[in-house]
Amino acid sequence: MTVFDFAVGQTNPETFPVAEFQAAAQRAIAKEHEAFNRYPGLRGHEGLRRLMAERESLREGVEVDPECIALMNGSMQAVTLVGQALRERDGDIVITEEFTYSGTIEAYKGIGLKLVGIGMDEHGMRIDLLEEKLSELAASGRKPRFIYTLTMYQNPTGTCMPEARKTQLIELARHYEIPVVEDNCYGDVHFQGDLVPAMFAMDPYGDHIYIGSLSKIFAPGVRLGYLYAKEPRFSEITAKRFDAGSNYFAAAVLAEFYKEGIEEHAERTTPALIRKRDLVVQGLEDNLADICAWSRPVGGLFLWVRLPDDVDMQKLLSISADANFFFAPGSNFHIEAREVPYLRLAFGHVPDDLIVQGMSVLANCIVKARTSNEARSFDSLF
Ligand SMILES: Cc1ncc(COP(=O)(O)O)c(C=O)c1O
Repeated sequence: MTVFDFAVGQTNPETFPVAEFQAAAQRAIAKEHEAFNRYPGLRGHEGLRRLMAERESLREGVEVDPECIALMNGSMQAVTLVGQALRERDGDIVITEEFTYSGTIEAYKGIGLKLVGIGMDEHGMRIDLLEEKLSELAASGRKPRFIYTLTMYQNPTGTCMPEARKTQLIELARHYEIPVVEDNCYGDVHFQGDLVPAMFAMDPYGDHIYIGSLSKIFAPGVRLGYLYAKEPRFSEITAKRFDAGSNYFAAAVLAEFYKEGIEEHAERTTPALIRKRDLVVQGLEDNLADICAWSRPVGGLFLWVRLPDDVDMQKLLSISADANFFFAPGSNFHIEAREVPYLRLAFGHVPDDLIVQGMSVLANCIVKARTSNEARSFDSLF
């Protein structure tokens, strides 16, 4: 039976560069086999660090020192490590968007951090609400350890924070002396429109922690991501790493592969992702325009769908599972696991024909999980 799997963010197997990656692996083994006999060290494969520094530098127009980059076992290791390094005691506060990546929620709660969520709109975290919260916390003598934010192609909502808002966030963090952790996991999975600069490139103060990944631009199975921070933050964070370094072999192969240029690979993979996003949007428009609202992401791998308030989420999950349609319910991304009338669709890996079929399957399930057939009472996503 056909399975419609829109649950987990994965890259597109149709555009995986099998032959090129095979050739890169052969070259890497021939050139670097001697180094495979050694531990990779704190920072990891120098060639890949240089390429990642170049990647960030070219996109953001600022210099990035490869010595301030440490390769990680996926960006998730960097996310967790930052939490471990900056945490002082149980219950320490971390500020995040009200909706954020479920892996981060689990990791931070798992190490005893308390997440405080800031409401969002179509441009990401609301700075007025952030300001209110920081001032309220300061008045009660509580200082968050850091602000963790997804400002580009936000997971799950797909929002991008405009430059002016990023400046406000940087200034506010500076005012309250709170470090900012910018997780740009979807950097380079960009579909359309002008690129907004990343905050690390805008921050004049130098105390900024930046996290990148190769999972979304290349493939999550290589488990490579990176942390970028200037001293003394870099050493403070990497001092908490006890894993003897990240996979040198994977890094060597990827460095060989990317020698041809990182943009070239993105140029090959992005058109298919844009087509898939458009198919999801078209499918939602054809089937659910009268009752739902959704994001139109300019990058990333997800669509965020607002459901009518009378959808019974448990019923929807059960009906959908019976129809072999899988999605991630909004509560997975709410920092307090609140039942919210949203769902997230991951489209990057789903074959085109299954997207087309899948959207009408989803629509049927949503209609069946409602207690009325009223039109939607909202016009916007938030
Ligand atoms: C915002 C965000 N950060 C980090 C990760 C972890 O990615 P990885 O560890 O594969 O680099 C994800 C994965 O979906 C994510 O969405």
